[in-house]
Amino acid sequence: MRRQPLLQHYAEYIDLPEHTRVVSLLEGGTPLVPMPRLAAELGGGFELYIKYEGLNPTGSFKDRGMTAAVGESLGRGARSVICASTGNTAASAAAYAARAGMRAVVLIPAGKVASGKLAATAAYGAQVLQIEGSFDKALELVVAISKKHPIALVNSLNPHRLQGQKTAAFEIVDQLGGAPDWLCLPVGNAGNISAYWMGFQDYGQGLPKLLGVQAAGAAPLVAGHPIEQPETLATAIRIGKPARGEQAMAAAEESGGRIIAASDDQIVAMRQRIAAEGLWVEPASAAGLAGLAQQIAAGTLDPSGLRIVAVCTGHGLKDPGSEPQTVVEASTLLADFNALEAAILGEQT
Ligand code: F0G
Repeated sequence: MRRQPLLQHYAEYIDLPEHTRVVSLLEGGTPLVPMPRLAAELGGGFELYIKYEGLNPTGSFKDRGMTAAVGESLGRGARSVICASTGNTAASAAAYAARAGMRAVVLIPAGKVASGKLAATAAYGAQVLQIEGSFDKALELVVAISKKHPIALVNSLNPHRLQGQKTAAFEIVDQLGGAPDWLCLPVGNAGNISAYWMGFQDYGQGLPKLLGVQAAGAAPLVAGHPIEQPETLATAIRIGKPARGEQAMAAAEESGGRIIAASDDQIVAMRQRIAAEGLWVEPASAAGLAGLAQQIAAGTLDPSGLRIVAVCTGHGLKDPGSEPQTVVEASTLLADFNALEAAILGEQT
């Protein structure tokens, strides 16, 4: 169990300015959960693990980067942080700013942020502002504001974010005793895949092939051009112009892997499949595994004898509303003990 802040635990591998302060909620240290049943279902003959990043303090991997970005900005005297977000960055920035005693301002695409993320961001005390339009437009605006005013930008354009996020690669190596053969993960603004690649390189214990997975309606890196109106129910990765797109493409290529797209149907089906193993993740989080399943089925990725890690980036509680309508058994309320007994035992009674 981790008993010290993430960045101190891996201090010798982290490159942050001297002035960086410790702003920690004891992030990281998330489990690497073996998934033998799912591996068997996908064809078998390989090891499959989920890196369950939903167990970070605010329920997503963003906390790894935010401890670095907020700590750095506090250390250089900033009093406020700002970000554009599809929700998770917002919640994380808000929490770490609260921890640091700083002000947080977040800009979100109206109507496209999942309820759990909004509720958390507001609870941590951030100022939540919205625009008509996509995340990409929001990012342009906050970049412009941060250039004009002394408000620290904590999107993954901020290089300190990647220093923090790369620690997930270190943990996977520590947990597995080496790098996996493939690392599968969702790609939105493309900061996380870039950070993982940096992390595996910096740790020097082997390199995985990267399978980055975008949602089909928001897949600029697959299309080869920006998507003006990205659309997907995996709202976390509803992004048409990834800020670190080129870096992500280079990383995937250098690794011998690739960036592909999974349909919303594939993502939703995989989310349910993962839940059937007892792990509830938000839709975008299932994209990495959805992409892996698709590639195995198509015969374009042979997993035989390999160790594969899929990163599930955010908790299911973030986005409960996108579940298919919950089926509550019996539309009428149970009247008494006998009715309850009959409902449980069914026709056996
Ligand atoms: N998974 C989840 C749950 C996310 O929230 C994000 C990004 C990603 C994957 C993709 O990571 O952007 O580094 O490629 N969410 C950002 C946000 C955009 O604002 O919360 P990425």
